[in-house]
Amino acid sequence: MDKKKPIIALDFKSDKDALIFLDLFSNEELNVKIGMELFYSAGPDFVREVVRKGHSVFLDLKLYDIPNTIEHAMAQLAQLEVSMLNVHASGGVDMMRAARNGLEQGVSKGKEQPILIGVTQLTSRDPKTNEDEMQLAVTQAESILNLAELTQKSGLDGVVCSPLESEKIHQKFGTDFLTVTPGIRLSDHKNGQDDQVRITTPEKAAHLGSDYIVVGRPITKATDPVKIYEVILKEWQEALGGIK
Ligand code: C5P
Repeated sequence: MDKKKPIIALDFKSDKDALIFLDLFSNEELNVKIGMELFYSAGPDFVREVVRKGHSVFLDLKLYDIPNTIEHAMAQLAQLEVSMLNVHASGGVDMMRAARNGLEQGVSKGKEQPILIGVTQLTSRDPKTNEDEMQLAVTQAESILNLAELTQKSGLDGVVCSPLESEKIHQKFGTDFLTVTPGIRLSDHKNGQDDQVRITTPEKAAHLGSDYIVVGRPITKATDPVKIYEVILKEWQEALGGIK
């Protein structure tokens, strides 16, 4: 999956809507994320179709279950030839190791192993919810670092996190440990316009060390999605270029 391209979150309700959107981009090869909404409506065949079209797919199903179930589920998903998958880091080390084993067993001979990442804390989660509802005794930052540590210990490739956490995660766990970051908004976005709380621009995400940015609604809900994609792509690539 090409790090220089944003991953577009295909949060559409049907394969029909997603394909209409993808057709806007002619033959351009994209990084796309298929999440629960689309996967549950369109299923594995749709994922195969998007891969066949030449796009790289991040299958964002955020699995969380007992290790045995996760291992077998991952072995199935491995056959879809997606480029990236994820599990909740809060499922623990045994569960994450089972996910890795399942993938290793399921990927066809000669095919590349997909990137496997752990979800630390959702970018929509605010610290107050952690305290009041989840009764977490540590701060949100401490919890994220703990979950990232468990993810690395389990042999996964990196974490999904807010761009605001990328820097610290790289300092602690190394620059090879990937940070995949949603919560990306253009600079004209006003906080509170939607459910994302811990947000940054593509430029700032690059400076904070995000390895991959995930962008949904700013592109999919735009009047001209291709134009906004190009704006985000340019901002991201220019910022990455400035860092090297
Ligand atoms: O529309 P928006 O840009 O907010 O889309 C962000 C995408 O990233 C959504 O598909 C959401 O499910 C996903 N995501 C997230 N926070 C995480 C993990 C995934 O927003 N921690």
